[in-house]
Amino acid sequence: MLERVMPGYRIPRTVFAGRAETEGDGIEVRRLIGVPELDMVDPFLLLDVFSVNPQEDRSAGFPPHPHRGFETVTYLLTGEVRHIDSAGHESVLRAGGVQWMTAGRGVVHSEMPESKTGLVAGLQLWVNLPKSHKLTDANYQAFDSHEIPVEERGSQVTVKVIAGTTGRGTTGPVRQPLTEPRYLDFDLGAGAAVLEPIPSDHNAFIYMINGTLEFPGDDLSVQPLGGETFAVLSHGTELRVSAGADGARFLLVSGRPLRETVARSGGIVMNTLSEVHAAQEDFRRGRLAG
Ligand code: CO
Repeated sequence: MLERVMPGYRIPRTVFAGRAETEGDGIEVRRLIGVPELDMVDPFLLLDVFSVNPQEDRSAGFPPHPHRGFETVTYLLTGEVRHIDSAGHESVLRAGGVQWMTAGRGVVHSEMPESKTGLVAGLQLWVNLPKSHKLTDANYQAFDSHEIPVEERGSQVTVKVIAGTTGRGTTGPVRQPLTEPRYLDFDLGAGAAVLEPIPSDHNAFIYMINGTLEFPGDDLSVQPLGGETFAVLSHGTELRVSAGADGARFLLVSGRPLRETVARSGGIVMNTLSEVHAAQEDFRRGRLAG
């Protein structure tokens, strides 16, 4: 029998407010993926929303910590963060910019607010690597805001394309063929509508930055999403949404699931617990990175 992909609109399947967690140097983050309520949205292992005010806590940041076996994606909405790592890379990530770091075999890095004033806010997403590439060389793809294409759809809709290709053919600068992630930042004027295809084999979620997003359709039980909410989407082939009276800004992220076993502890994500323990031992002996 032929397997056919039935068309269908993707709607919120799980809406989750997240859980407060303390990370780094005492920073409160809101964790949306990577908690008991929602352990992963394969291939996405973790999603943190952070907002740091350096004036209130001068030491607030993420001092040196290890990663192995996956990728960290930092998208900054406000402020500046200085990144320093074990491979000798040092850079400043600014508002609207993205840092897509493939930890692979290992990276030890710090992420600290660059200035002593002003809010530093953004999101960090962890994207898994397949077993075949967990110990690949570390790699960085860092792009300033002006290097990221913005697709204009009339006067009411813009899409900043960080990774992947939109339905209208705009391709973002980040490349990752292993999971084919799409990372899109939509900005809709009041009442504006969007129809966006999403690969049917991808898992997808929405994070609302502000405004309200409605899901027109036959299912009247689907509630609009408000500011700062997060929703895992159902399966289907397209997203059909429209903004409320205040417009809507939201991230639409999707990726191809790896369907592998996951063993994780802190910043180490492998396939088995013994691989996690080996990574922890490497970190203790100072040989995780490089
Ligand atoms: Co990190």
